[in-house]
Amino acid sequence: MSELAHLYDTPLYIFDRATIINACTRYRQAFSTDYTASAVRILYASKAYISPVLAQLCMEQDLGLDVVSGGELQVARHASFPMERVSFHGNNKSEAELRMALKMGVGRIVLDNWSELERLTRIAQETATRPAVLVRVAPDIDTDTHKYLQTGHAAAKFGFPLVSGDARAALLRILQDDQLDLAGIHAHSGTLLRETRPYEECVERLLSLACEVYQETRWWPEEISPGGGWGIETVDALQMPSIALLAQALQRTVEALQPKLPAPMPTLILEPGRSIVARAGLAVYRIGATKATPGGVNYIFVDGGMGDNIRPALYGSQYTALAPEHLLEPAAQTYCLSGRYCESGDMLIEQIDLPELQEGDLICLPTAGAYSLPMASNYNLVPRPAVIIVDEKRIEIMERRETYTDILRRYPA
Ligand code: LLP
Repeated sequence: MSELAHLYDTPLYIFDRATIINACTRYRQAFSTDYTASAVRILYASKAYISPVLAQLCMEQDLGLDVVSGGELQVARHASFPMERVSFHGNNKSEAELRMALKMGVGRIVLDNWSELERLTRIAQETATRPAVLVRVAPDIDTDTHKYLQTGHAAAKFGFPLVSGDARAALLRILQDDQLDLAGIHAHSGTLLRETRPYEECVERLLSLACEVYQETRWWPEEISPGGGWGIETVDALQMPSIALLAQALQRTVEALQPKLPAPMPTLILEPGRSIVARAGLAVYRIGATKATPGGVNYIFVDGGMGDNIRPALYGSQYTALAPEHLLEPAAQTYCLSGRYCESGDMLIEQIDLPELQEGDLICLPTAGAYSLPMASNYNLVPRPAVIIVDEKRIEIMERRETYTDILRRYPA
């Protein structure tokens, strides 16, 4: 780590290729061909972290991609990702983004609301195309996670509400207009989930909705998706069931429902993000200053912070930290691990026991691979960190460190 920090400077995000591949393998094995309930396809949720190198890795791992913006679409195409394996999500896709997605030939567009349904129908008419769509449903499922990470409840901002009948009406409308190719139904109940119940409930509700629509129209989905959201172990929640357990629970659910279905079980689509990349990413910072306050807080200031990882400030997310050059030394002090940004809330870890540390020492934060860099900002006009991916043989740059020239480029000359 010292060498990498020396070579690439800090703050530095390091991804471990093998850890990503292991996570993909675990998904593939859990939902393998022995998985008799239905066919399963795994799409990696790019919002957790994406770069062209990672998109290529997903392609090699036989995953599809879930993207939510023109930017993520561009990265997928830049990486020559097969666009038919891309699903375009989001609650407010612009006209330009929808047209771009169609032009690029994305496999699925996931419709979130009536405006979008009408917008896409009009674009499809104008361009004489028949895009394949899924209807996203707000399934009215409660989840045991941070309020900001809940997405399936009745008041959620995403999807056509199930309870109001909007979801059913949207499906009927698409079938009636016949301008869009209705491929299936989608939902996503929340993220950082640690129990299988929301997934089981979700699959039950989506299939029950499909049965209702089948009675009226004889339409049957090719695919259904309970989304992503499978959690990881974190400092405050060390118990995390395995992905195999999720696969078993879904298999049981599907097997119980199958006899009641009017047609074969649709393909099941899963969209994991965090559980693929979180553990593979490590943030490395250098301590620039320390300060013991009369108020009793012992600060160590690192050269990153809320600009590259806002999760502790935004969700109270908890991380642990290591001092890689002092690994064998006992903890000597309780520190507040704080960043370099002009804000008191800029704390990566409010209290952590670490060995005696000083200016120049490195600090690293494990499990920082998901939702830190994608939510990074240029607050205080600090350039974004460099990102590398390593394996036993090589180091590859995924993102070069941002420069002041990059920052100045946005202003008119
Ligand atoms: N599919 C859909 C439709 C989603 O909305 C999401 C996450 C995923 C899949 C992937 O969920 P995952 O497997 O990564 O949990 N910024 C927050 C996370 C927001 C996730 C939003 N949607 C965080 O830092 O925890």
